[in-house]
Amino acid sequence: MSHEKVETNIGLMAILVIIVISIGGLIEIVPLFFLKDTTEPVKGLKPYTALQLEGRDVYIREGCYVCHSQMIRPFRAETERYGHYSVAGEFVYDHPFQWGSKRTGPDLHRVGGRYSDDWHRVHLTNPRLVVPESNMPGFPWLNENKLDGENTPAKLKAMKLLGVPYSDDDIAGATDAVKGKTEMDALIAYLQVLGTSIKSRR
Ligand code: HEC
Repeated sequence: MSHEKVETNIGLMAILVIIVISIGGLIEIVPLFFLKDTTEPVKGLKPYTALQLEGRDVYIREGCYVCHSQMIRPFRAETERYGHYSVAGEFVYDHPFQWGSKRTGPDLHRVGGRYSDDWHRVHLTNPRLVVPESNMPGFPWLNENKLDGENTPAKLKAMKLLGVPYSDDDIAGATDAVKGKTEMDALIAYLQVLGTSIKSRR
């Protein structure tokens, strides 16, 4: 009888459906908040320096994530090419993370240390100078744009609010740490630290 009531009363049915779905969702999601694997930084993970954080903002502004992922999946084909697969604890200081889902270019999660700063400088200015068949766009203006560091302390503060362990000294010194550097310097500093807290085989 009660079954019939539910099936003939669409309002009641909708409410019950919502309750059932949210229980399923909560059971999937809530445990992740408490799992150490997903909430604790891996050993050796450091917060981005002021310059690296500025570089990360350039990465986001220029839309690098549109063509590059930062998420190495635990498959042979990926670990052979990119190195150790990505683990959640590597991203706890990333707000927001840059996993991405599109790979027009290669994954960049472990690109840190793979090339020299000079290689990156040439490649980002005009990729075809070092990779002739590349169809990646150049970003030459990053060499011209200078950072004044005015907003850098506020950026660190915002990250601190989200749980990144910056000290007061880090925040106070943030402007001086980036002032006069180019956006290119910042972006390269960011790329060079990516994925380096876990030693990859490459
Ligand atoms: C339109 C797509 C596209 C965009 C946007 C793009 N890339 Fe690329 N990227 C590529 C392709 C394709 C390659 C492979 C060819 C090459 O090395 O140039 C590549 C290669 C790279 C490599 C070398 C990776 C390796 O392991 O060899 C780096 C580093 C890189 N891109 C960084 C960036 C950064 C930083 C940005 C943003 C400023 C960016 N890319 C924007 C397509 C793109």
